[in-house]
Amino acid sequence: MFPNDNFPGATSYWQNGELKPWDSGEVHVMSHVLHYGSSVFEGIRAYATHRGPAIFRLEEHIDRLFKSASVIGMTVPYSRDELIEACRLVMRENRLASAYIRPNLYYGYGNLGLTPSKCPVETTIGCWEWGAYLGSKGISEGVHVLLLPWKRIHHSQMNASVKLGGLYVQSNIFATQTRELGYDEGVFLNLENRVAEGPGENIIIVKDGVVKTNDMYESVLEGITRTSVMEIAKDLGYQTEIAPITVEDFFEADEAFFTGTAAEVTPITRITDSRDRSIPQEQWKTYTLGNGKPGEASLKLAGQYMDIVHGRNKNYDGWLTYVYDSVADAKAVLNGSLRNENENVER
Ligand SMILES: Cc1ncc(COP(=O)(O)O)c(C=O)c1O
Repeated sequence: MFPNDNFPGATSYWQNGELKPWDSGEVHVMSHVLHYGSSVFEGIRAYATHRGPAIFRLEEHIDRLFKSASVIGMTVPYSRDELIEACRLVMRENRLASAYIRPNLYYGYGNLGLTPSKCPVETTIGCWEWGAYLGSKGISEGVHVLLLPWKRIHHSQMNASVKLGGLYVQSNIFATQTRELGYDEGVFLNLENRVAEGPGENIIIVKDGVVKTNDMYESVLEGITRTSVMEIAKDLGYQTEIAPITVEDFFEADEAFFTGTAAEVTPITRITDSRDRSIPQEQWKTYTLGNGKPGEASLKLAGQYMDIVHGRNKNYDGWLTYVYDSVADAKAVLNGSLRNENENVER
């Protein structure tokens, strides 16, 4: 019923405590979430390591899921530990060496008033192989972004530093439009006309050796990758700064890159300014960062990040949750192969 063509490697998912075949499932058309986007979710990655797959910062992701649920007043029907174990279980069940993991909590079938008082909270977790979000070429050569005239929902309107399903309609619309216009990804402003973030990625810039990003008061989701990379930068001896990023800061940066669970660390090498849509596209101005290639700091931070997620840096082992209890268990299930040859599958 549901082919897994765009979910490579997915054979089963977890739903309310049970494992179900990937191609099965029914959601009633009057489910609350279908009408109002009343869901919260997470995006997590597991990477191949010498000890079998390890989930990057799983505890922080599950904590954020609870925080997102609290923002919409949703009671999570499982404990933190149960959801952590369910993520490990679904990885083992799908026998994946690396994957993107998607927990989702949504209001199901009950009533359709704006207050979902009769709706059960459904909990699901799926996982599949998902390569570089903005392409492996984007990671190695950098991406061309479009600075959008649109403003991300403001932090004074609601807590936008969480992952609420309905909030993502804005990201869906402009990620699609940006690609239709021929760019790799868009960048939202905030209401203050400063740089906010991408539709699913934070932005970090580098200027004169200082690694800088913004925070939730600039109407961004404070990503777990962003926070990790800032910590890595500090550990590598870079001066770091959390402060607003003006449009001029962005255009004049020595380097810039996206961070995100899906996008990982993707250098930004060109920015086209489309803030004034009364100007025809051919006249939108394009800024090249540095020499148009990923810069030294971006490459260093991306390399360190990849080493950490793949378990090659013991100092950050605390950021990894191993999927199997022992290396022997991992080897037995994964046929002795502890690396995933499909890591660079593009979607
Ligand atoms: C809007 C938005 N900003 C930033 C991020 C990056 O967050 P993280 O690094 O936690 O994946 C995401 C992805 O979750 C996102 O959807």
